[in-house]
Amino acid sequence: MRFDERFLDEIKTRLRPSDVIGKSVKLRKQGREFVGLSPFTKEKTPSFYVNDDKGQFFDFSSGKSGDIITFLQETERLTFSEAVERLAAEAGIALPAVDPRAAETEKKRQGLSDWLELAAQWFEAELRRPVARDARAYLERRGLPESEWSRFRLGFSPSGRTALKDYLIAKGARPAELVDAGLLIAPEDGGQPYDRFRDRIIFPITDPRGRIVSFGGRAMDPQARAKYLNGPETSVFHKGHNLYGLAEARKILAAAPAGEEVPLVVVEGYMDVIACQRAGIAGVAAMGTALGEDQMEMLWRHHPEPTLCFDGDRAGRQAAARAMDRALPLLKPGKSFKFALVEGGKDPDEVLREQGPAALKQQLAQTTPFVEALFIRERDAEPTDTPERKAGLKVRLRKLAASIADPDLAQAYKEDLLGRFEQLSPTSQPVYTVGAAAREMSRQRWKGGRSEVRAGATQEVKDATERMRRSPKSLAAALALTAVRDPHVLDETIELVDRFGFGDEKLNQLAQELVQLRYEADHLEGEVAIRRLQAKGFDRTFLAGLEREAKRAGVSAPFMAEAGDRARRLWREAFDLLVQLEALERAVDEAVRDLPRDKDSTTLINLKVERDQLRRLINSDWANEGKPAARPVLPH
Ligand code: UTP
Ligand code: MN
Repeated sequence: MRFDERFLDEIKTRLRPSDVIGKSVKLRKQGREFVGLSPFTKEKTPSFYVNDDKGQFFDFSSGKSGDIITFLQETERLTFSEAVERLAAEAGIALPAVDPRAAETEKKRQGLSDWLELAAQWFEAELRRPVARDARAYLERRGLPESEWSRFRLGFSPSGRTALKDYLIAKGARPAELVDAGLLIAPEDGGQPYDRFRDRIIFPITDPRGRIVSFGGRAMDPQARAKYLNGPETSVFHKGHNLYGLAEARKILAAAPAGEEVPLVVVEGYMDVIACQRAGIAGVAAMGTALGEDQMEMLWRHHPEPTLCFDGDRAGRQAAARAMDRALPLLKPGKSFKFALVEGGKDPDEVLREQGPAALKQQLAQTTPFVEALFIRERDAEPTDTPERKAGLKVRLRKLAASIADPDLAQAYKEDLLGRFEQLSPTSQPVYTVGAAAREMSRQRWKGGRSEVRAGATQEVKDATERMRRSPKSLAAALALTAVRDPHVLDETIELVDRFGFGDEKLNQLAQELVQLRYEADHLEGEVAIRRLQAKGFDRTFLAGLEREAKRAGVSAPFMAEAGDRARRLWREAFDLLVQLEALERAVDEAVRDLPRDKDSTTLINLKVERDQLRRLINSDWANEGKPAARPVLPH
């Protein structure tokens, strides 16, 4: 079976050689390449290289090189067709139907390409003719001298209705082909096709390999109907699968010295791409539309973290916001975007002209990580001056993190975003810090501990631990009961409640239910919560028992006697205390299990001292006594 070139290109565009080859050869990243042991020889030192930018592997031990198709042919003894079929499946591309007309279509495409190339050459020549005097002056004014024209293949379309058409017909083209290529417009009324681009500066658009697929045309007349006119979708040009300037950008990336971090920057306009590339920056642009998913995947094939650069105005910020929403679900470990805003509401083209290449480079290098840009967007979207609004922000952050398809990254985003949220304005001051003894403990554990020690604690220690466990029971009950009555107390610490619960099995189940309820509804009345909980088996008898236990907490549950914001703040502080006591209890248990059964172990003693101090604090009128220390160190 014969595959057309576009189909093969599509496969190669979708698959990274390091991924394909990495399945059978263990590869290690080294600068812009990957290295590993040759699959062709039995070498001991790696001399097998894979270069994603070039789409090639090089094996210095056997002298073989090639692309992913050759790789499968060579290593798995597949025929060319078999290799292509396997890779197509891997890339999720349907094989072209065995169709006698396929060859015909391919020939036609090839024909279109030829006419597009010829048109580009003609536009280029026109720019140098007397008719283009104004166009040349315009380019001059915009700081694009003749020496730069050929690199970007700039051209000019004169104003006649059929100038290009006449030229290409004379070269043997049929009008219908030129319509298919997007060069001519066929009037709806069936009249004669005429030139699409008239009296415009021409920016040729190429595919990633540099073959012309369409054109963009800029009007010089400020009164013109559209500032830029782009070619239509055709069989060789799909806007959503194309990036202006990519072929040139690839060259810039490939020419970068190994190991040097070079950005790939997405800008907004044709002139901005040109400005970047003149400054030696790999710049590309979507053409008059927002960056689409296919374009994002294309970008990631060439760079793990492309920079999205938007004009520093309102419209630019909105475009950045939309790009974030579209990109978020697609992010993967090691595949993200950075954001750069150009200063002073300018675009990169203006910066280059007014301040020079160094300034442009410097501004584009000042980037904001995706997660930070996202957080700032949400933080600034609405005021956070009330608990409800703050909680609203938290809910939005959580939802955004959850929209990332990759589970590990979604989790990492959740932690990062909520961490930033916590730092926003510390409403609840922690009261107690897990101190030196606990940290020393975990440090020793990480260092390997002393594993020769058998598990097992004396009865004495067990009893003591059990007593400690029971002691905060009334506080836990008070916390739980308050959360039932006012589920909004959970808002600031919902992650922790989800993770730690309230200390015993039944209360932990209750915590889970409350967290669930809170996730489901933005506003929750205590009564509604109680009815839902009853349906889940937490009946009146249970609640009555909870109330009895909660009453025993007395001063250690100061939030019970308060209302509103103050009650919520105290609730969170108490919850913090409980969580920290839990952490210390666990640390003591682990110390007892892992450390030598040496009653004088300072680590164990210190831990117990710390725990007992905390326990005393909890049982005291803590809200009115000790003033808060530093933020708590929570166990993970
Ligand atoms: P801008 O309006 O930001 O223009 O459009 P620009 O790139 O700064 O252009 P100059 O500097 O005035 O020449 C950004 C991009 O949006 C597309 C083009 O791709 C343009 O480069 N666009 C803009 C259109 O497709 N049509 C239009 O009418 C305007
Ligand atoms: Mn501009």
